[in-house]
Amino acid sequence: MSAPRGRRPDRLLDMALHVRGETRYVDDLSPPAGLLYAAVLGSPAAHGRIRRLDTSKALARPGVRGVFTARDVPGQNQIGSILPDEPLLAEGEVHCAGEAVALVVADTERLARAALGAIELDIEELPAVFDPRVAFRKGQLIAPARTFAVGDVDAAWKDCDVVVEGRTETGAQEHLYLETQAALALPGEGGAMKVISATQGPTAVQKGVARVLGLPQNLVEVEVLRLGGGFGGKEDQATPWACLAALAAFRLGRPVKLVLKRQEDMRFTGKRHPYSADFRLGAKYDGRLVAYQVTLYQNAGCTADLSTSILERSLFHVTGAYLVPNVRATGACCRTNLPSNTAFRGFGGPQAMFVIEAALAKLAAALGVEREEIQEKNLLGEGDVLPYGQRVRGAQARRCWQLARTRYRLAERRWQAAEFNRTHPLAKKGLALMPVCFGISFTNQTLNQAGALVHVFADGSVSVSSAAVEMGQGVHRKLREVAARAFSIDRERVRVETTSTARVANTSPTAASTGTDLNGRAVQLACRSVLERLQAAAAAELGKSEPALVEIREEQVFFGGQPTSLTWAKLIPAAYLRRVNLSAQAHYATPGVHFDRTREKGEPFAYHVHGAAVCEVTLDCLRGTYTVDAVQAVHDLGPSLDPAADRGQAEGGIVQGIGWLTLEEVLHSPEGRLLTGTLSTYKVPDLYSAPRELEVQFLEDTDNPLGMFNAKAIGEPPFMYGIGVYFALRAALQAYRPELELPLVAPLTPERVLLQLHGDHPL
Ligand code: MTE
Ligand code: HPA
Ligand code: MOS
Repeated sequence: MSAPRGRRPDRLLDMALHVRGETRYVDDLSPPAGLLYAAVLGSPAAHGRIRRLDTSKALARPGVRGVFTARDVPGQNQIGSILPDEPLLAEGEVHCAGEAVALVVADTERLARAALGAIELDIEELPAVFDPRVAFRKGQLIAPARTFAVGDVDAAWKDCDVVVEGRTETGAQEHLYLETQAALALPGEGGAMKVISATQGPTAVQKGVARVLGLPQNLVEVEVLRLGGGFGGKEDQATPWACLAALAAFRLGRPVKLVLKRQEDMRFTGKRHPYSADFRLGAKYDGRLVAYQVTLYQNAGCTADLSTSILERSLFHVTGAYLVPNVRATGACCRTNLPSNTAFRGFGGPQAMFVIEAALAKLAAALGVEREEIQEKNLLGEGDVLPYGQRVRGAQARRCWQLARTRYRLAERRWQAAEFNRTHPLAKKGLALMPVCFGISFTNQTLNQAGALVHVFADGSVSVSSAAVEMGQGVHRKLREVAARAFSIDRERVRVETTSTARVANTSPTAASTGTDLNGRAVQLACRSVLERLQAAAAAELGKSEPALVEIREEQVFFGGQPTSLTWAKLIPAAYLRRVNLSAQAHYATPGVHFDRTREKGEPFAYHVHGAAVCEVTLDCLRGTYTVDAVQAVHDLGPSLDPAADRGQAEGGIVQGIGWLTLEEVLHSPEGRLLTGTLSTYKVPDLYSAPRELEVQFLEDTDNPLGMFNAKAIGEPPFMYGIGVYFALRAALQAYRPELELPLVAPLTPERVLLQLHGDHPL
């Protein structure tokens, strides 16, 4: 990256560091004196009773400094955040393959891993359950099932001209952040512990470490430099590794680092929740939706983790971008013997949206129309009330849809695809549209808050701390922009600091796409406090009495609209000499959001993000392989704070969504061992699986009072355009074999495509 002539490169930008390879992740930090390395023994069995666990031989190995099990935990051996069902180290029983049983600490990473094999572990295997429906039948629920309802579904079936029913399955998804789970624990004075953790939730880690070590929170500091990706996989699941490192550091009084190898990370950590669902959808002959009933069986894995919250978001999004007057949606959080599944971009939303899109595919077939005719007819409009009681405001669903149709020439492309399919016996094109409506806010009301700490140094440079964790999504770039705009100074003056619980307390995780909305507001409020004091200082400096008439515009101080002799560079040292407080702390809480779980009604979201995408694929019907020709979206973003970052978010989300539904398949052996724990067995999207044409047109003229400078959150919503690619691919399959009844199962991998095309008959 070349800097503009005559200017130094902007060293405060993460991306500038990335391209130089200068970015430091946990594992890149210079080793502190006396550093030890930890490695984790994961359970080989998916469910069983620990008969014997003997660590003495491992402890006797060269270089080994300690081997720890549940017995060595000084505080509580418990890290569950929503429910206390998650031991840090297995105690008595193991509930999934890969569950942490013991921790070895040694002089080098190699010695630590080598000693794992010397731990004697004897497990009596117990019957294990991997299928959420089986778990449901056995009553293995993490929490009571929940039902969201509106209208009267039972009475509405008789008003339907057509009713379709079916079952869907969506698979797990590996987060595959580039940086694996990592933590460095540094014991301090007086029993204090500092942990440098790769987490989306510094406070979650702080609470976990405090609980495990039996310390008050003020003796535990957690600092996050940045993440090499999180995607939800480090919202809750960075905590165990940080706690394990802290446990060892506490016991040994030396710094301890724990960094998972890729294959350990894939084996030990949870994924996107697979869902199995039953649906029933009824409509009028003209395609108007009348009634929708759905039951979601969420495969939660062996602990609660965030599953109940994820299931709740699934229920919020069961009707996708559509208005359905009569709905009954039930969700069950089913406990199975898999590593606990967790947050992943969309947080349960994509899984629920897939079901309604699948139901629409069946309905379209029954009515003999294209899916998009029904989609269009039922899109959410202004003032429509969603099943959970929230009214849609500033709705852009229809506008995005119409713009996508015309801008991307849907009618013409339909005709071209039909022509292509007529003239190509062994290749077929499929088209599909995908509208998205995604609620922005944590569904857990409490989490919709953030804090910030802003310092202006005497030389005019600015330091910004907040609760936001940078994980590649560009939140630090955006916060820098917020501070620069708030003061009206060059953004080069602003540094966004690492995220530390010692600077900003009680942080919510950086998640739910709210990083900029929440932390941006907090930063803005803190800057405004300092700015008010600066106005008073400037007025005094200028010998004026009305501070309200002082303004800073692009580094220049104005009074009553006229430029003065003061600039930012002169004002700040002058204010310091006048003993003005140049620091401020601020807190922001999203106003208005609420939800009543006894009635399952409320206004859980600050706002909804809408958009629509046109998806096109070409299928090679001999090989089962396909090309995604295009994903072209019109997306309501509003005025972007950082167009490059926002475009990156949209494009990355779309490719990740395509991966989830068409390429990535997590498979386990009948005993529950991960079979796809390497990058040779787990296929993630590469350049060739990305759409040949990937275009995202942002609506820029819309407003959003609860967003930063009127923009909307971008992190998760575009992921769901990938669902359109699934249905485009399905349409291509149907063009080749229209007589087939295709299952509504994802991922639609090339293998599965081939089996569906030819599995029942030789070529
Ligand atoms: N983009 C990158 N590059 N890396 C990530 O880990 N996580 C996604 C999204 N985009 C992620 C990302 C997820 S799951 C969320 S919730 C948001 O970023 C979180 O950041 P935000 O709230 O600042 O948008
Ligand atoms: N999204 C992401 N993470 C969360 C949420 C949510 O809605 N609620 C709690 N953690
Ligand atoms: Mo994102 S799944 O909310 O971290």
